[in-house]
Amino acid sequence: MSFSLFPSFPPEYCTGNAGINPPDRFNFIQQKLLQFAESPLFIIAFKELYYKLRRVVQVKMAAQKKKLRDYLGLVRKYDYNPDMSYFRKIIDDMDGYVPGFQPVGTDVVKLNTNENPYPPSPQAVEAIRNFDTTALKRYPQPLADSFCKAAADVLDVEPDNILCTNGGDDLLTICFRSFCDENRHAAFPGPTYSLYPVLAKLQNCKTEEIPFAEDYSLPADKLVESGAAMVIVCNPNAPSGSFIDIAEIKKLADRLKDKSILLVDEAYIDFAESNCVSLIKECGNVIILRSMSKGYSLAGLRFGYAIAPKEIIAGMRKVKDSYNVDAIAIAAATAAIWDQGYFRENAEKVKAQRSLLTAALREMGFQVLDSQSNFILARCINSDASKVYDALAAQNIYVRYFKLAGLDDKLRISIGTKEQNEKLIQALKKIL
Ligand SMILES: Cc1ncc(COP(=O)(O)O)c(C=O)c1O
Repeated sequence: MSFSLFPSFPPEYCTGNAGINPPDRFNFIQQKLLQFAESPLFIIAFKELYYKLRRVVQVKMAAQKKKLRDYLGLVRKYDYNPDMSYFRKIIDDMDGYVPGFQPVGTDVVKLNTNENPYPPSPQAVEAIRNFDTTALKRYPQPLADSFCKAAADVLDVEPDNILCTNGGDDLLTICFRSFCDENRHAAFPGPTYSLYPVLAKLQNCKTEEIPFAEDYSLPADKLVESGAAMVIVCNPNAPSGSFIDIAEIKKLADRLKDKSILLVDEAYIDFAESNCVSLIKECGNVIILRSMSKGYSLAGLRFGYAIAPKEIIAGMRKVKDSYNVDAIAIAAATAAIWDQGYFRENAEKVKAQRSLLTAALREMGFQVLDSQSNFILARCINSDASKVYDALAAQNIYVRYFKLAGLDDKLRISIGTKEQNEKLIQALKKIL
């Protein structure tokens, strides 16, 4: 028989209100407790109460401990362990590429990522509108034949001289994967496009950045002496906008013959006075990178291409993803490259704005390099470039500031529309 030293309460008092109002319940408890305290068993009962309470506390603590143990078990099973990584060491050790800031909103003057401020060809827009979406159930053309034919016609080369890519960046990846590894390094004059060293790292390949002279002339001797498997010359260069004569590039290609690939990054060539296409027929080691993001106003489409000797293109086709450009992009890029009239008009508008902006900034005291690109590099003489950047950003005007040696006193400014450039100039006049 179980024996309890506690006074027994009617069940309804133990299970909730059950029709008894609170004052009644309180009086009942008080009365019972008083009776209990007066009973001779009080001390023993008190002891029992103590042990009961202690038991309750012990049980609760054990439950908490179990919860903690289970949690720690989970942590050990699934959570990040700083001593181990799923990644290759090279990935853990590197910083990824940081793309330019993409502000949202319509009242923004966006001059920070060298996009074209004018819209793409109406024919490209039409091609997207008229795209037969039932075709999306099939994979796209693996080699984007329609674009290769159009580009070959426009550039006076053969379709087999063209390799289409998911933007120029995809071509850079293909080049690093094709030509570089831990024993085959890359060299380029710098400062230049900061994606090159990032892609090189992914390939476990070393890079040699050979500083440009003050006048941004080509450090050809050092590039040849580097012994690199791939030499990259960005022309026009980013972020300087400077341009190297095609004859200089041809001489470099000849000196690198049978030793290295010469990749000429012509992402910004649509705003320059000449280009390297003719070298494809004369030099077996030259690859030209082109982008539809700049001169063709199609940065959001992601389409670029290589122009190179057929044997080089054939090798790089082994490296690219099977379907690296999508069907809609092929249709729009093909229509855009056929529309050379619109393309030339667009580039001329950018160049005209470039001249006006360059002159206005020089008048304000900036030191501005001559640019053959759709951006300019402006050195702040009497002001702190980072502060000017911040003050512009506070007014929703975005340019690019690089906190890097040799660039941290400069702003890289993409050429905008007439209205955008005027807003920038007015804002700068107030800031300086
Ligand atoms: C120098 C240079 N090369 C290549 C690219 C790649 O351009 P995209 O991938 O948009 O074609 C860029 C992009 O800004 C660039 O600045």
